[in-house]
Amino acid sequence: MSSHIKLAPSVLSADFARLGEQVAEATSGGADYIHIDVMDGHFVPNITVGALVVAAVRSWTDLDLDVHLMIENPECYIPEFVSSGATLVTVHVEACPHIHRTIQSIKQLGARAGVAVNPATPLSSLEEIIRHVDLVLVMSVNPGLGGQVFIPETLDKVARLRSMLDERQPTAELEVDGGITLDNAAGVVRAGAGVLAIGNSLFKSQSGIIRTLQAFRETVS
Ligand code: DX5
Ligand code: ZN
Repeated sequence: MSSHIKLAPSVLSADFARLGEQVAEATSGGADYIHIDVMDGHFVPNITVGALVVAAVRSWTDLDLDVHLMIENPECYIPEFVSSGATLVTVHVEACPHIHRTIQSIKQLGARAGVAVNPATPLSSLEEIIRHVDLVLVMSVNPGLGGQVFIPETLDKVARLRSMLDERQPTAELEVDGGITLDNAAGVVRAGAGVLAIGNSLFKSQSGIIRTLQAFRETVS
């Protein structure tokens, strides 16, 4: 279908009692990134994990750790996430009044910097920052929970973002996060995604992590 599409297992749906083993399994199954969702109970209603868990995951894989911060005041915590092993740190444009400074600080710490947009946030909010980012993450569900249904309007948004990136920041990656399944993954890639965060349909699959990753690889290749 296109060049190498990156698969980013989202450990939100993993068995946290066996997190290390499941990360190792995803790594040997051909994952490209490990996606870690950090939620603070303020920016989103749910609370998940902090830098300690990022450090724990770091010890089970050499893959890039794609840390998705769904938190308020992310700038207070970014140094700790990077020193714990995050190699790609994504902040929400909705949570960052000084997004330019936040992106610069991620890069100064030696990580790659991403910006995320919620389903109802227009792409125009990225106008002034897009040239500075390494990745744009489009939420295809409202953030806060795994296992939600993909919002179909996302496809058009991804296509518009693809054109924006091609024109202004072609080296940046385009990640789509939320509700990705074996049935819709190819369409999301066709719309322009280069990275797919996959939670529920990977970790809860009856076929197991390795075979399901293989099936995702086939459907997007
Ligand atoms: C949702 C998170 C996602 C989530 C995706 O707020 O950002 O990364 O884990 O999980 P699924 O694939 O189950 O929608
Ligand atoms: Zn996420």
